[in-house]
Amino acid sequence: MKLAVAKEIVPGERRVALVPESVKKLADAGFSVAVQKGAGEAAFFSDADYERAGAQIVDDKRALWGEADIVLKVQRPIFDQELGVHELELPKEGGVLVGLLNTLHEPEIARRLAERNVTGIGLEAIPRIARAQSMDVLSSMASIAGYRAAIIAAHSLSKYMPLLITAAGTVPPAKGLILGAGVAGLQAIATARRLGAVMEAFDVRPAVKEEVESLGAKFIEVDYGVDTEAEGGYAKELPPDAQERQRRAIHEHIKGADFVISTAAIPGKRAPLLITKEMVADMKPGSVIIDISAETGGNCELTKPGETVVVNGVTIIGPVNLASDMATVASQFFSRNVANLIMHMQQDGRLQFDFDDQITAGVCITHAGEVRHGPTKALLSEKE
Ligand code: NAI
Repeated sequence: MKLAVAKEIVPGERRVALVPESVKKLADAGFSVAVQKGAGEAAFFSDADYERAGAQIVDDKRALWGEADIVLKVQRPIFDQELGVHELELPKEGGVLVGLLNTLHEPEIARRLAERNVTGIGLEAIPRIARAQSMDVLSSMASIAGYRAAIIAAHSLSKYMPLLITAAGTVPPAKGLILGAGVAGLQAIATARRLGAVMEAFDVRPAVKEEVESLGAKFIEVDYGVDTEAEGGYAKELPPDAQERQRRAIHEHIKGADFVISTAAIPGKRAPLLITKEMVADMKPGSVIIDISAETGGNCELTKPGETVVVNGVTIIGPVNLASDMATVASQFFSRNVANLIMHMQQDGRLQFDFDDQITAGVCITHAGEVRHGPTKALLSEKE
């Protein structure tokens, strides 16, 4: 089968879906790989690196996508200004498009792929099961985002992270608060702890308490009065009363924090609002909030996605696409995850669609002219 690696066109996106190391792995399995000219440049993988790994470099995007059996990309398909066509129209009929399709935010993508009989493999829909861990793009990217957020916190503070005993006196360590101790939050804790900060964390899932404590942070327990864990290990949206209890607890702890890294998310929904402007008003001047849920609405009421705002001396940073800032390693991880998924689904260089397999059934958003992904299907029928 012919595999094509697309050059990303979402502004600011520096990652590439496949790096030269994985080209070789897939070529050995029987795939032929073509790469759009300059696809890896922003992540520091040159066309020559790809050629050495056995890929063909193609400049014509329409031809590359139209001739490929499988197109690999990072970001969801969007309108290509340069070509004057939406990327959804470019894969061949019966072909496969692999990427973070995000159909829970944009279900129309699934509708169009199904209409065009293109199989859409949505990497965000990989089941969170042990067998699929090596294919889990969301975890890889979240881990990078968590690390990066802790570094941004250290960089933005006007004080040290660690306790320092110097000739000029002793300074206490910075105090960090994590809201949402999933993959990103745990990595942020680990990174900030390595830098010497004292950490506390909130999460609605009680199951993370042990992980938080094993990283040397304090887990703040709240009696929500309801079951907070949904299927698949994800969090549920909290009812108003539980939200209120949580906000009261956060308000108490946020007053003492030097920095807050908020990562709380609920798949397919707006990020929960956890930090109100009243809480920000009670924070110490000079403290910093890094709200990595900015892209899905933000955990802080004052967050502006992609911007930094300062309110009463509190800096609120709303970074978008932190993984792209570390494009080299993010592309390496993304690429290994994608290659592992393809290796899992293929036999003799051809993708197999065995829907009895939980991983295949989970990631195939569309196939054979149908939208298969239940939550996306539900969103589309709501709109009808
Ligand atoms: P996520 O990005 O969807 O959410 C981040 C965190 O925010 C989660 O820990 C969630 O519980 C928390 N959260 C949601 N609403 C909140 C609220 N109101 N207040 C405080 N926190 C809130 O989650 P992520 O990081 O993608 O993973 C969630 C979990 O899935 C992991 O911690 C793990 O248990 C499981 N997982 C399993 C994998 C596997 O077995 N292959 C791989 C990756 C994750």
